[in-house]
Amino acid sequence: MSGWSRRRFLERGSAAAAIAAVWGCAPEERTDAETSPPVPEPSASPAPLTGPRRRLAEPGPMIPPCPAILLTVNGRPGDPDEISVLWTFVVNGNPPQIGVSAGFEHQARELLELHDEFVLNVPVASMIEAFDTVDMNSSRVADKFELSGLTRGAASVVAAPTVEESPIHCECRTIASLEVPPVRKLFIAEVVATTAVEGAVDDGGRLIVPDVDFFGMTAGSGEHYTVGRRVGNIGMTVGRSDIKY
Ligand SMILES: Cc1cc2nc3c(=O)[nH]c(=O)nc-3n(C[C@H](O)[C@H](O)[C@H](O)COP(=O)(O)O)c2cc1C
Repeated sequence: MSGWSRRRFLERGSAAAAIAAVWGCAPEERTDAETSPPVPEPSASPAPLTGPRRRLAEPGPMIPPCPAILLTVNGRPGDPDEISVLWTFVVNGNPPQIGVSAGFEHQARELLELHDEFVLNVPVASMIEAFDTVDMNSSRVADKFELSGLTRGAASVVAAPTVEESPIHCECRTIASLEVPPVRKLFIAEVVATTAVEGAVDDGGRLIVPDVDFFGMTAGSGEHYTVGRRVGNIGMTVGRSDIKY
């Protein structure tokens, strides 16, 4: 019963507006087809870690593997188009806003300042060697499409190239930027179009994570790991499966 009370409160009370404002979600009633399927029984979850805690020699952004994407943006006239590996973070769900951080010295930073449209091409594990080739080279010295063997495509709405091997393209338009000394500049963008190949996203617009080898990298140790096992969903503790941020 407490789940039901909470559900109604979220839908009708001021908390709904507050949550929507903070998270950009739309907590209105949805059809069954839009709700998350039940969470499968967990398969052998590791036991909670209870050992002693120690302070590491160096502080670091030691959080689980962060998604990095293949950013594509037009080059300067006569220069190759740019592909670069950048970490990315979601800023908001609705309206869809996303951010990337580009090094001052990187070609990607200069081109993101020059053009306000770009594409975030979501990579998968089968692309890992091409991904590493893109990382290990700069567009200042070579055409990274040629070097990596990745296929250049065209975005559906924005003026920017794509990586055709990526199952998902987020087509973006920059809305804000912020210099973060000593070495980075953040670019925040609205996602104005998203395209996906069959098998990566279901009819409800939900990523089919267990079927696709999405991956992220550990900051500080530079290792790539896939993601995959679903452990829950937003609102599970109040009996809801219809909330999308
Ligand atoms: C997982 C991963 C994440 C990275 N994230 C960033 C990033 O957020 N910003 C950045 O400037 N470089 C990042 N890099 C490094 C650049 O991809 C790399 O230096 C690139 O070759 C720069 O190319 P460019 O000069 O053509 O822009 C990352 C590399 C890896 C492997």
